[in-house]
Amino acid sequence: MHLLDLKNVNITYHTNDKKVRAVRNVSLSVDEQESVGIVGESGSGKSTLVMGILRLLPENIVETSGEALLEGKDIFKMSQQELHDCRWTTMSVIFQKSMNSLSPVHRIGKQMEDIYRVHYPNESSENIKKRIYELLKIVNLSDRVYMSYPHELSGGMMQRVAIALSLIFQPKLLIMDEATTALDVVTQSQILNEIMELEKKMKISRIMITHDVSVVASTCKRVVVMYAGELMEQGDVKDVLLHPKHPYTQGLLRSFPSFKGARENLKGIEGNLPDLSLPLEGCVFADRCPHATKHCLKEKPKEIETGNRWSVRCHLLEGGA
Ligand SMILES: Nc1ncnc2c1ncn2[C@@H]1O[C@H](COP(=O)(O)OP(=O)(O)OP(=O)(O)O)[C@@H](O)[C@H]1O
Ligand code: SF4
Ligand SMILES: [Mg+2]
Repeated sequence: MHLLDLKNVNITYHTNDKKVRAVRNVSLSVDEQESVGIVGESGSGKSTLVMGILRLLPENIVETSGEALLEGKDIFKMSQQELHDCRWTTMSVIFQKSMNSLSPVHRIGKQMEDIYRVHYPNESSENIKKRIYELLKIVNLSDRVYMSYPHELSGGMMQRVAIALSLIFQPKLLIMDEATTALDVVTQSQILNEIMELEKKMKISRIMITHDVSVVASTCKRVVVMYAGELMEQGDVKDVLLHPKHPYTQGLLRSFPSFKGARENLKGIEGNLPDLSLPLEGCVFADRCPHATKHCLKEKPKEIETGNRWSVRCHLLEGGA
């Protein structure tokens, strides 16, 4: 059984005058101790997908369908109590601005204790304090952070506190949405190395959303490429990043310095994402794809398995390329 198994997940925002189909028919899985990067240009539905799985989207304007199985149990069907029990303990999340949720007028240690107490109200203050100091140590923060206020910490220290908080109940799945993007490259790489060490020790899986493909290359085992709410290609990082088969993945990777050799000029992908509130026939990438045919405009490509857990949605592959 996969740790997380998404089957045909759809997430739609109902705004005043339209329906925005931000995630469409996404199926993917994450195994125990596996790290999966999600990449795709801005607006491709990456955050909607993970926020939807976490059930953190406003339920009054969001409609979901499909299955999101966490250890075999469908998150979309969980009661509020079941959700409360598995958030933090089975899956937890770190955002770019996670620390904004902390109060500026209370000390870090006190706020961490309060979060711990919500799940374990009967735990002694002494044990909780011990656990918080232990967590600060795990993320390489000194004891003095316990008594600090959020404004006294640097951006890197703040993100370390966010990581400590996300690990507070030893989750099985850690979700990071642009969690280290705002940090300088040195701090980012230190923190990512620490996270990978912690994952090994604590047997944690990770879903990592980032615009930086090199971060996925260095920290993830698998990669998922999204475009306009749909999954274009997924597979082992080495397969997909070194030998991309989907024209969108190829274009996305041309927008970054080459992984394989000398730097090339950066060539982006011309054009814009389609309007997700309109009915989208055929391949969603067709109006930007250099290989599009009339068939692509009419018929949606199926997901084609092209290797071990490597799949691509493109008509070019349907002939067995
Ligand atoms: N509250 C909302 N109401 C309506 N549409 C929304 C809402 N939030 C997001 N969207 C739309 O859903 C689509 C996907 O957005 P999302 O934020 O998930 O993309 P993303 O891949 O995370 O982008 P980025 O890389 O910029 O973070 C976009 O078209 C966006 O405009
Ligand atoms: S299905 Fe057609 S339009 Fe879509 S990516 Fe493949 S070749 Fe391009
Ligand atoms: Mg996002």
